[in-house]
Amino acid sequence: SGEPQAAQDLTDLRVVVSAGGTREPIDPVRFIGNRSSGRQGIALARAAQDRGARVTLVGANLSEPLDGLEDVVTVGSTAELREAMLSLAPDADVVVMTAAVADFRPAHTPASKIKKVPGQGPAPIELVENPDILAELARDRGRPGQVVVGFAAETGDASGDVWHHGRAKARRKGADLLVINPVGHGKGFGTDTNEVTIVDAQGETVAQAQGTKREVADAVWDAVLKVSPPPAA
Ligand code: CTP
Ligand code: CA
Repeated sequence: SGEPQAAQDLTDLRVVVSAGGTREPIDPVRFIGNRSSGRQGIALARAAQDRGARVTLVGANLSEPLDGLEDVVTVGSTAELREAMLSLAPDADVVVMTAAVADFRPAHTPASKIKKVPGQGPAPIELVENPDILAELARDRGRPGQVVVGFAAETGDASGDVWHHGRAKARRKGADLLVINPVGHGKGFGTDTNEVTIVDAQGETVAQAQGTKREVADAVWDAVLKVSPPPAA
């Protein structure tokens, strides 16, 4: 299966890719989540495996098929995702965060279901900020020469366009590469194709790509090879 004709240019690279979206428990039956399908991350994992890498996919709440992927770790919340990434990163040559990580989580999660009280409105849910896993991975490199890649689904707003926000984020995160994906108007989330610009830690453009999630995935791996060519055998 996959693409057996793919160039084996990632042979022996150890790669960890996160995909999907984290869910933060409100109580035992409810959560705060997001609509990430995980398809771009799964495409990255498949592409790397087809190109010869040893890949671990860390999947958060995926409902897409994972057939053919050799090593899958399943997580739910941001805390679980963070724990999995921090434990896998020390052995990885490349770490890619495509997962949509919940920025906030409920401050308290009662052990029993929250009940509604007749005649009373809902109690507010207090939120606290989650740790920034990508920034942590970028700061505490698992091994020398490790390449850390982030993804950013961006929209423009009153304070700047997609590219302004994307470049600022690249500088803030400290990742070697940030894949900027403009979303909205039928782009990005839940669609079959993507259009991305890959920037470095200074926010300078390294590559642009558009096409299927697989084509975008291959462009990301090409950019990783440009940043860090594999050691000569
Ligand atoms: N990310 C992460 N941990 C978080 C939030 C985000 O590791 N707590 C990672 C995502 O996996 C992605 C990158 O950071 O690779 C960018 O995510 P994004 O949500 O765009 O960035 P934020 O810093 O959360 O900024 P924003 O306020 O735009 O959501
Ligand atoms: Ca965010």
